Amino acid sequence: MAKNTKKPWQGRFSKKTHNFVEFFTSSIHFDKRLYLYDIEGSKAHSMMLNKIGILSDKELKKILTALKKVEKKIESGKMVWKNSLEDIHMHIENELIELIGDTAKKIHTGRSRNDQVATDMKLYVRDETTAVYENIITLQKTLIQLAEKYHKSIVPGFTHMQIAQPITFGFILMAWFFMLERDKSRFLDSYIRLNSSPLGAAALSGTSYKIDRKYTAKLLQFDNVTDNALDSVSDRDFIIEFISNSSLLMSHLSRFSEEIIVWCSTMYNFVSLDDKICTGSSIMPQKKNPDVLELIRGKTGTVYGQLVNILTIMKAQSFAYNRDNQEDKPALFNCADTIDMCLQAMNLCLENLKLNEDVTKAAAEKGFSTATDYADYLVKKGVPFRDAHEIVGKTVGYAINKKLNLDQLTLKEFQNISPLTDTDVFKFLNVEGSVSNKMSIGGASFNEVMKQIKKAKKIISTYEKI
Ligand code: ARG
Repeated sequence: MAKNTKKPWQGRFSKKTHNFVEFFTSSIHFDKRLYLYDIEGSKAHSMMLNKIGILSDKELKKILTALKKVEKKIESGKMVWKNSLEDIHMHIENELIELIGDTAKKIHTGRSRNDQVATDMKLYVRDETTAVYENIITLQKTLIQLAEKYHKSIVPGFTHMQIAQPITFGFILMAWFFMLERDKSRFLDSYIRLNSSPLGAAALSGTSYKIDRKYTAKLLQFDNVTDNALDSVSDRDFIIEFISNSSLLMSHLSRFSEEIIVWCSTMYNFVSLDDKICTGSSIMPQKKNPDVLELIRGKTGTVYGQLVNILTIMKAQSFAYNRDNQEDKPALFNCADTIDMCLQAMNLCLENLKLNEDVTKAAAEKGFSTATDYADYLVKKGVPFRDAHEIVGKTVGYAINKKLNLDQLTLKEFQNISPLTDTDVFKFLNVEGSVSNKMSIGGASFNEVMKQIKKAKKIISTYEKI
């Protein structure tokens, strides 16, 4: 066996590992992306070994310099990855031995790959959480800008996909803002829970060396150390939480996508997407398709799939570490890459979206969208709501027969059904009147939407950095 492919666990074995087993058990083709975290962890661990007298100053210096060299080698693409060296941890350790010999063999004192990989994964999830957090903020800023631009633009509000009441596009965009705000807070909340160091848990029960776990935790900027070694090496909750938070985020992005896809269809024509973010058809020359949004909607399935994946990987594992855990990486990396791309894609689509205000206003005027306003009008004249509901229902029925909108009926026609109706009713029957007439906090009125925008701006300008 070549010097640089010796497995650290070779000692006990009398036979060479079967090629297929090497191939099947290796994770290097996907876990090499953890190299920076692995090197950071090894630096912290070596510094701690020096602090407690296991590594001399000279040895520490040698290790730190060699770790830098390994980092550079990986960055320059010169590192040769081998299945025989299983994973990123063994590759880096092996490389260190190549560079500095026996000194490097001391680095694994008081450490196991079990706490090492848990540490790497926590460092990775921590960075990814920060990246998602920042991407969500970027998207929220775009939503605020659009909401300001369209805060007076009337669109129909739907329930059951039927025109329900007039609202504004700004109101919808602020709904999306607050959905993302909850997503952001979920990531923040999980970050706080994950930020404790498992390093020093060793294989499963700690170590007989008097290691200083608090010191390595501090060096790696963890808030504290985990409480129980057995839990530390088998815990993957933080990955489940990340993918679960991502799933909810994706369900939101998917709903935004669906809305825009429907709205930019020829039948609706509520919004137009810029040519540069749409794609065409290979057979139908007229087609302009919102594929980016469809892919966000489709990739939601990818992320949900990874949630089922990680939950199932963890479901029946005995304590403590099992190799099943290695499968957490493809699940996590795939999820992180997907949400990163989808957040960027959604931002790009919103930046290149235009509301067709004439069309949306005309649509909002259809479908008797101000019928509730007429009922509320009658209630204010002393009619109990249920009776008002019936009167308006009859009036709408009458208008349908006449093929007219509510505001096209004459006062006389209104009064034939309810004599309490007066000329001032027309103020409430037009869509702008209906929107401005909303009084409740969080409602669709122009004023309330402006308040929501103001609050959103404050949230964004004072957001908690992680
Ligand atoms: N590649 C392994 C993983 O990702 C590292 C830990 C291996 N530990 C062990 N005892 N086999 O989980």
